[in-house]
Amino acid sequence: MHNGTSITQFIIEEQRHIAGATGDFTSLLNDVVTACKVISHLVNHGALVGVLGSADTENVQGETQKKLDVLSNEVFIKSNEWAGHLAAMASEEMDDIYPIPRQYPRGKYLLTFDPLDGSSNIDVNVSVGTIFSILRCPGGGAEPSERDFLQAGTQQVAAGYALYGPSTMMVLTTGNGVNGFTLDQNIGEFILTHPRMQIPADTREFAINMSNMRFWEPPVRRYVQECLDGKEGPRGEDFNMRWIASMVAEVHRILTRGGVFMYPMDSKMQAKGQGGKLRLLYEANPMSFIVEQAGGGSITGRERILELQPESLHQRVPVILGSKNEVERILGYHQPD
Ligand code: AHG
Ligand code: MN
Ligand code: MN
Repeated sequence: MHNGTSITQFIIEEQRHIAGATGDFTSLLNDVVTACKVISHLVNHGALVGVLGSADTENVQGETQKKLDVLSNEVFIKSNEWAGHLAAMASEEMDDIYPIPRQYPRGKYLLTFDPLDGSSNIDVNVSVGTIFSILRCPGGGAEPSERDFLQAGTQQVAAGYALYGPSTMMVLTTGNGVNGFTLDQNIGEFILTHPRMQIPADTREFAINMSNMRFWEPPVRRYVQECLDGKEGPRGEDFNMRWIASMVAEVHRILTRGGVFMYPMDSKMQAKGQGGKLRLLYEANPMSFIVEQAGGGSITGRERILELQPESLHQRVPVILGSKNEVERILGYHQPD
């Protein structure tokens, strides 16, 4: 018997504080947790179970899918379609929304997810993750449409991610702070190990893919250049840099010890008519919710991500998030003089 609080116990106890809660939401979260445990198992066993490599297919965004992208997507669907809590799902790996099939009851929630984040890291055995967001379905959910998903991030009921790293973790917010759980592989339960996670307001660490530097806009160039100038520069301090190429791992580091993560707008994406790299509904919004709930900030550069009105399911946005004072500084650099 473990001594800690399991994620199931934690969710049930949280729900007891919500007047009129039916238990629907608790069961939905439990199904999401189960899906992440299955994905964790697949990721951990890697080549032993033949899940590495390419699936030789493309998703709606023109990215080549890895076998694990496709498998993780299927795991999420199978774990979450049957219980009657959802009206529909949407994922990075599906062109259109997935209304709950007629053989199952439809519920009042919507689930969006990035089944495997950082998939370029799978084959090289570096941390990957899963990101999810839960919304209420307007109109009750009997006939869900794409339009129902186009809600500002401020409307999210819950958001979380699973990180498949040296240990598997689940980090969760329901709008009442952020809590982190570690998977105890022996008993198959996530145990509360990181209660009330808080992002330090100041940091000396930034994360950005520097190979894109020549395409960045002036405010981001200025910010990064000032970090690089270190003690002798305007910041008067040396900065450290990290780039894992898994947003989940990046956000987790920031929740643990502070930092700034940037995937900003650049001229290469602009030329392709792309609004950014990361997807609003299942990457930027859930991560922004978590980061803000932990005391950090999250912006496109010019505005708060959670207030954006989504225009399409797979919309992309620039993302700058992390330690509050640094994010505010970067916001300031984007203001016209
Ligand atoms: P995904 O694997 O779901 O497509 O997302 C990858 C994302 C994000 O996790 C990461 O921060 C970024 O793309 C990495 O991009 P680069 O390869 O351009 O560095
Ligand atoms: Mn992703
Ligand atoms: Mn993905």
